[in-house]
Amino acid sequence: MTPFPLGRPARIAVLASGRGTNLKALMEAFPKGHPLGEVALVLSDNPEALALRRAQEGGVEAVVLPWRGRRAFEEEALALLEAKGIDLVALAGFMRLLSPRFVDPWYGRLLNLHPSLLPDYPGLNVHRRVLEAGEAWTGTTVHFVDRGMDTGPILLQARVPVLPTDTPEALEARVLRREHRLYPKALRLVLLGYGFPPEGLRPLVGEEAWARLQALSPRVRPFHLLALGFLLQAGKAHLAPEALLGRGGPWARGAFLFARLVAEEDPLLREELLELPEEVGRAVAGALFRVESPL
Ligand code: GAR
Repeated sequence: MTPFPLGRPARIAVLASGRGTNLKALMEAFPKGHPLGEVALVLSDNPEALALRRAQEGGVEAVVLPWRGRRAFEEEALALLEAKGIDLVALAGFMRLLSPRFVDPWYGRLLNLHPSLLPDYPGLNVHRRVLEAGEAWTGTTVHFVDRGMDTGPILLQARVPVLPTDTPEALEARVLRREHRLYPKALRLVLLGYGFPPEGLRPLVGEEAWARLQALSPRVRPFHLLALGFLLQAGKAHLAPEALLGRGGPWARGAFLFARLVAEEDPLLREELLELPEEVGRAVAGALFRVESPL
């Protein structure tokens, strides 16, 4: 269902069109020699991208594929990813839409970062639109890339408050700071095998539980997916259908606590780990540690 964990360090490619602060965060989280994975390649469609300089400064191979149309870019990029043995691709401020030719073979191993709480505010000029709408909260989303624009299954989100005094620039800066922590964490979820798109689960959970999963809103479904990811990696896949139906005992409760605590550190929720049977509590705490830990 998910090729991860690989049992060896993953080779990560980052595609970036601009300033590259999220690239920097990813390079710091996944340096050479990191047991989980290393940023091994940076690709840009823009020869002027600051991201390219950041890659070079960080000792990471940086390649420019100047934009000469989608087909040419995608063919070159696909060939390069294969030649370099890349396992996972992260879009970080990559401002082009990718076609099914690129997206389909990488589905499940291709992530995007978007500066809103998707499915709200897809597309461009997000912060200005959020302010104009008078929102009290915005946020950022990491999702698997599918054929649509900012539509793929959500992996992880974080909320960010909007202040009445914010300009689009001030809001962007606050969201960016949050993204620098969220994106590495989302990659760790995937590389550890906790995060994957839903489709592969259908045969595992059966039709009733699958229908329940499908009926959930796009912002709630990710918690269920992460909980199932936890059960899978804990060797408890057989509990997945029951868990989706709101049953499944302490392992299911532990799995959902894991999913919520991954998304948002909450001291009261963390205390509930102590109410679980010791074996379950230990498994959840261990999984959380691996996801939170930069090493
Ligand atoms: C980030 O805020 C990212 O969410 C956004 O571009 C910024 C890149 O910043 N991505 C998109 O809007 C994609 N539709 P960075 O270059 O400093 O990492």
